[in-house]
Amino acid sequence: MSPPTLDLNNVQGDILLGLPKKGQTFFFFNINDGTIPDFCIQLGHLVPLITTVAQVQDDQARISKEKEKAKAHHTNPQILDMTGVNISFSQKGLLQLSINDEIGDPAFTAGQFADVANFADDPTKWDPEFKAGVHGVIYITGSSHSLIDSQLAKVKTIFGVGGPGATITEVKVLQGHVRPGDETGHEHFGFLDGVSQPAIQGISTPANRGQETVDQGVILLGREGDNGIVPPGGRHDADFKFLIEPEGVTRPTWALDGSFFVFRHLQQLVPEFNDFLEKNALDVPIPILLGNPSGADLLGARLVGRWKSGAPIDLTPLKDDPAMGANPAQNDAFRFDVSSQARCPFAAHIRKTNPRADLDAFGGTEVRRILRRGIQFGPEVTRAEAAAKRSSTDIKLERGLLFACYQSNIVNGFQFVQQSWANNVSFPPKLGVPTPGIDPIIGQAATRALVGVDPDVATKELDLTAEWVVSKGGEYFFSPSISALRDTFVQAA
Ligand code: HEM
Repeated sequence: MSPPTLDLNNVQGDILLGLPKKGQTFFFFNINDGTIPDFCIQLGHLVPLITTVAQVQDDQARISKEKEKAKAHHTNPQILDMTGVNISFSQKGLLQLSINDEIGDPAFTAGQFADVANFADDPTKWDPEFKAGVHGVIYITGSSHSLIDSQLAKVKTIFGVGGPGATITEVKVLQGHVRPGDETGHEHFGFLDGVSQPAIQGISTPANRGQETVDQGVILLGREGDNGIVPPGGRHDADFKFLIEPEGVTRPTWALDGSFFVFRHLQQLVPEFNDFLEKNALDVPIPILLGNPSGADLLGARLVGRWKSGAPIDLTPLKDDPAMGANPAQNDAFRFDVSSQARCPFAAHIRKTNPRADLDAFGGTEVRRILRRGIQFGPEVTRAEAAAKRSSTDIKLERGLLFACYQSNIVNGFQFVQQSWANNVSFPPKLGVPTPGIDPIIGQAATRALVGVDPDVATKELDLTAEWVVSKGGEYFFSPSISALRDTFVQAA
């Protein structure tokens, strides 16, 4: 039996389109013992505040209209007032609500702290709240921090946070914001982020990106492509329960149109990264005079796989091309040369995390695709830090990425990409060359090195010594559909 038609009013907005945002507050909470009936009633009051995919479509249309208007008047577009609210629960949160159904993802069930050794995270660097585990997260996005704060205040009032009858307790709050000025949209190492996302069948416009379109079930549970094995029309029984092979686990009915939400608190050591690029700068013909990049810029581009503008080195290997970087019709229109790393190292961050044609002979990449929704946190590098070439130890100056992504299966998605691709020196599989090495941006291992960085000597190894991305931990969550929140979660008591 087929599942009901996908209703974009029934899916949380961050999942398929991303809540529009200049800033974002992640409010991690625990549900207080003995308050479950009240919590469930209050959750019912939160549901109308939750932003759906359909609402994000409206918001995006308003933004596009404003941009067109500004273009016609040769002015800068106004930043329109808007906010968004979404909610997700961890396995511990589901159990606290006595929702005991097996949801069919062992990584979710075990929680992210169980992956510390798999990812070679240093547990002493994990935030204590993530080590202990949290029940859920409410995330609020907005066009300004004041709008986000007032929306958060509404949420806290609903659950009586801080008061005598509170049903939830604030465990941790993390705030993100896009970087200022020309760095807007760029992560803290300076590279344009959010360029390559999988297009979702029937939702995003494929022409938007030069990318393959993936089945809805790569992101949404219960839709065609969930686990990459559900045949057309889905494999559902009369109750819309759907099967996962090979284990034969049944996902609960209420999981339909939900998605697993992975959160990681990743600190970036920016002065140290820049210092490494300077010290290991690649040879380039006289840089500035000939319009060539600096040797440090070329090295950075070869570690990431893109120039800071977003232009892919697979298309423009020796010089940045900002116009290409900004053009969605061009900036993803490449698949890598499977037999060569002359244009892009096998281990470059974007090749490790989406190897494209490298996996054509191994079943493709579709089941591993994730939708990324991260945001930067922390201030810009200070002059003192830049001069010292070291990040300050003052926690107020910490910066990095609040990494977030969605998928229908964490074991196939985030967990696989981090553990079996980024951290795995032998990936992507290549015959007759030295092993590619580690993902230089997010790969973690006792020793970190990769080959292929020097375009002239492909086999030369580059020892990376330090890590510039430090994991402070995170959690695995599930983002239910609106109907699941209303009919299953609210009724959990
Ligand atoms: C602080 C940590 C990170 C930084 C600085 C970073 C930076 C970047 C940049 C600059 C890009 C290229 C632009 C784009 O396509 O969006 C990118 C792409 C990507 N990153 Fe990361 N990233 C980080 C963490 C992660 C993590 C933890 C994962 C997953 C395990 C990941 C997975 C991806 C994927 C799937 C792509 C798209 C590849 C493609 O389709 O071409 N990233 N990242």
